[in-house]
This record gives sequence, structure tokens and C-alpha cells, in this order.
Amino acid sequence: MAELETLEKELISSIKEAADLKSLEEIRVGAVGKKGSIPALMSGLGKMPPEERKSFGQSVNKVKQAVTTELESRKAELERIALNERLETEREDVTLPMRQSPALTGRIHPISQVWEEITEIFADLGFSMAEGPHIETDENNFTKLNIPAEHPARQEHDTFYFNEKEDGTRRVLRTHTSTVQVRVMENEKPPLRIIAPGRVYRCDSDQTHTPMFHQVEGLVIDKDTHMGHLKWVLEEFCKTFFEVDDVTMRFRASHFPFTEPSAEVDIGYSKKGDEMIIGGEEKWLEILGCGMVHPNVLHNVGLDPEEYQGFAFGIGIDRLAMLKYGMSDLRAFFAGDSRWLKHYGFSPLHVPTIAGGL
Ligand code: DAH
Repeated sequence: MAELETLEKELISSIKEAADLKSLEEIRVGAVGKKGSIPALMSGLGKMPPEERKSFGQSVNKVKQAVTTELESRKAELERIALNERLETEREDVTLPMRQSPALTGRIHPISQVWEEITEIFADLGFSMAEGPHIETDENNFTKLNIPAEHPARQEHDTFYFNEKEDGTRRVLRTHTSTVQVRVMENEKPPLRIIAPGRVYRCDSDQTHTPMFHQVEGLVIDKDTHMGHLKWVLEEFCKTFFEVDDVTMRFRASHFPFTEPSAEVDIGYSKKGDEMIIGGEEKWLEILGCGMVHPNVLHNVGLDPEEYQGFAFGIGIDRLAMLKYGMSDLRAFFAGDSRWLKHYGFSPLHVPTIAGGL
């Protein structure tokens, strides 16, 4: 019996001293677990004389009871201590400024923004979207657009050529989105009304030229489409895009091999320091080329020029962005400087819509 008392004392004091839940659990297993010291005493019961058995059994049970009670109370205490420690260390300082979510700190590049704005306006005018590859055949970039080999217009395009293939053909990085006109006319039946925004490439670089830039091509083919429609569409586009009533536009007679007649459109602006201010007639920036699709082009893509006619235009997206948002150096657009983007970029939550504003 004295042994039992010692065991109880020892267990109780080690439970009281248990420093954490893990060591308490070890003590529990050692005392009341299946192979613990208390069940071990119980297993000796069977060999005892019956009269001793009863009182010994009762005493062991008492010890077990006491130990279990002590285990539970120490466990509750240790849990409370652990919780307090966590509360202490994981405390939040609610007075600290909130970390902004990427949706608020990220910026949309002005080109992406203007791209979206253009798409929105033309979608509203009933145009659908078309696409083509950046690596194009010489045919689609030039020949079918009425620019045969040796034509001087090929030089003007500062083309990036790929190496010649064995069959003598060579691919190019498309120099304009007019390639998509060809693809659409070859694959779809008129009436056609599409725009094709995308990247184009030319070996050229200065303040208003970069080797990669963006254009949006427009094409309308039907039986009685005429130059008046073209002019109306472009004027409507410019007014909506620049969101000012007094956009000054200048239609200048020009020449493109794939249109006849052809025109270039300039937008009037003035300069205040480095900023470009839209309107007026002080300076002009060319933003697009356009015209009536040349009968040769229609013929090249398998359309009968006697039956169909239409207009096309190619707008410089980057130029539009420069004018609308007053940025005078195109090269900064593609320098990848996050400070520039922070200044000129757009909130991702600002989605341009005709109704809600561009
Ligand atoms: N492809 C011309 C360029 O890159 C722009 C252009 C002019 C496109 C007249 C057209 C057009 O569709 O009709 O300079």
C-alpha cells in the first residue's frame, strides 16, 4: 500500500511539473495508457488472494481517479497557457495601414487600355474581331495586297525578313495588320465588317517609331459601300475615342497600293511642354491610313470587283494612346519602367465602356 501512495505522489507531482502538453501526454501514457504503470498493477490482481484483491483493487482505482483528475486539470491549465501565448504573439496591430490588394496596385498598360477602348467603340458600330499570325507569308503581307516583288513600297516597310526557305519563299514579321484583311476576305463571305488589332514590326526607331508597335485594321466589304461610309465611321470613331467635341481631323489624299483612292488622316494638337493637347490646327499627327479596297486586292482574294467593294483603314494604336493621354515619347511605352507605368497606367477596375465612359 505504501508503494501505491508513493506512486500516486510521484505521478501527481510530475503532472504538476509538466511543462507543456506534449510532456503531459507522455506522463499520461506512462501512467494510465494501456501499458502504463496503473494498468500494470491491475493485471497483478488476478494472482492475489480474494480478500486482498478487493481492497487493493479499490486503492488502485482511487489512485487512477486521482491521477486522471490531476491530468485533466493540468491539461486544461496548459491549454490555457498555450492559448494565451498564441494570442500574445499573433496579435494584429489594427492601426497599421492595410496592405493593398494587387487589384488596386497593379496597372493596365496604356496600350492595353486604348486597345480595349477601340474594340469597344467598333463593337458598338457593329464590327467583329479578327486575328492573324505575327509571322506571315510574303504573299499575305505584300503580294496579295497589290505590292508585288520589286515594288518600291516594300522598301518603305523596313521589313524584318526570315531566312529564305528551300522553295525560295520567305516569311516576314508582319509589317502591318492589313494581312488580316487578306485572311478574312479569303475565308469569309461578304458582307464583312471586321477590325483586327495587333502587333506589327518594322526595323525603325525614334521618338515616334519603335520596332514593334500596334495597329488596328478595319475592313468593310459589301455591294454598295462607299467613301462616305468610310469618312463617317472614322469621324464617329475619333469623336467617341477622344471624348471631345472639337477633334480636328484632316483627310489628306495619299497613296497605298492596296486602296484606291487612298487617304491619310491627321489629328490636330498642340504642345505644352512635353504634353500633347488634342484639338486645334497647330500641329498634326498622322494616325491612320485608309481608302477604298483596290480592285486588284479583291481579285487576289477571289472576290469579284464588279460585285463587291468596300473600304479599309489601318490605325496606329500607339499614336492614339500618345495623343489621348499626352505622352510624347513612344519608346517609353516599351521600356518596362514600373515608375512610368505607375504614372500613366490604368486601374484594372477601370473597364472602358461606351455607356460608362472610356
Ligand atoms: N497598312 C498601312 C500601314 O501600315 C495602313 C493602311 C493604309 C491600312 C490604308 C489600310 C489602308 O487598311 O486602307 O501603313
